[in-house]
Amino acid sequence: MPQQTPPADATPADATPAGRPEIEIRDLHKSFGDNHVLRGIDLDVAPGEVVCVIGPSGSGKSTLLRCVNLLEEPSRGTVHVGGTELTDPDVDIDAVRRRIGMVFQQFNLFPHVDVTGNLTLPQRRVLGRDKARAAEVARENLDRVGLADKAGAFPAQLSGGQQQRVAIARALSMGPEVMLFDEPTSALDPELVGEVLSVMRLLAGEGMTMMVVTHEMSFAREVADRVVFMDGGVIVEQGPAAQVITRPAHERTRNFLDRILDPAAVEPPVGEDPGPTRQPEG
Ligand SMILES: Nc1ncnc2c1ncn2[C@@H]1O[C@H](COP(=O)(O)OP(=O)(O)O)[C@@H](O)[C@H]1O
Ligand SMILES: [Mg+2]
Repeated sequence: MPQQTPPADATPADATPAGRPEIEIRDLHKSFGDNHVLRGIDLDVAPGEVVCVIGPSGSGKSTLLRCVNLLEEPSRGTVHVGGTELTDPDVDIDAVRRRIGMVFQQFNLFPHVDVTGNLTLPQRRVLGRDKARAAEVARENLDRVGLADKAGAFPAQLSGGQQQRVAIARALSMGPEVMLFDEPTSALDPELVGEVLSVMRLLAGEGMTMMVVTHEMSFAREVADRVVFMDGGVIVEQGPAAQVITRPAHERTRNFLDRILDPAAVEPPVGEDPGPTRQPEG
């Protein structure tokens, strides 16, 4: 494996040595005191791959994502992102985090700053971009999430779905190589879920590498290259969405899916209009 250190301004395509996974997780463990939450996770995510992580509450999904951007320090094991070992004690954590965008269930927008300010402040503070350049990047990304007309609005003037799209645009404005989503639609009213999933579908189509913790099985079936089912801090099974969701190999997966799945949301009856949240491939 060639040892290359990508230049600081590398584009995503340059930043990962060829053939290497964008995210590489090996024997990852995380304990909080006596609570052994992650119990040996091995997972690779290829450049441009979309991996959906599903599993019951408390199974360690959020902890896994948080270990991938070092919001939590792993207890054991290694995590590489774009070829850089995050778990190396000498790693520049801030430099690594810039390459990893994270979107949470709660949008965490600054309430007293307008949408443009929410997108430009982190760019200026963390990346040192000047005001004009930061505003230009903000405009591009608001356009990408369909909110170009909301640049001057304050968060309280936006719906939950719009606020989450702003949060996605904020993460994109940092130019990440990888996007991590932790139940990004769970706090939304049902009628607002589709617009956020549409933006995520768009990013997936653009080739963004994504890890998505979600309960949206129809999204996982449509967009995920791979679905990972976690329970009790381990990966119980993984594979193409159609396999894991439709023909799970393990009893634990079947039990989980039986509990959460509305079969009509996954497999529309033959001849029925699948509804407006589904869009044609491509
Ligand atoms: N910062 C923390 N301190 C202590 N315990 C935590 C912390 N974060 C998560 N946990 C515990 O880790 C377990 C897994 O939580 P989490 O990763 O949030 O699961 P999930 O996202 O699958 O619902 C839970 O038992 C939770 O209480
Ligand atoms: Mg969680």
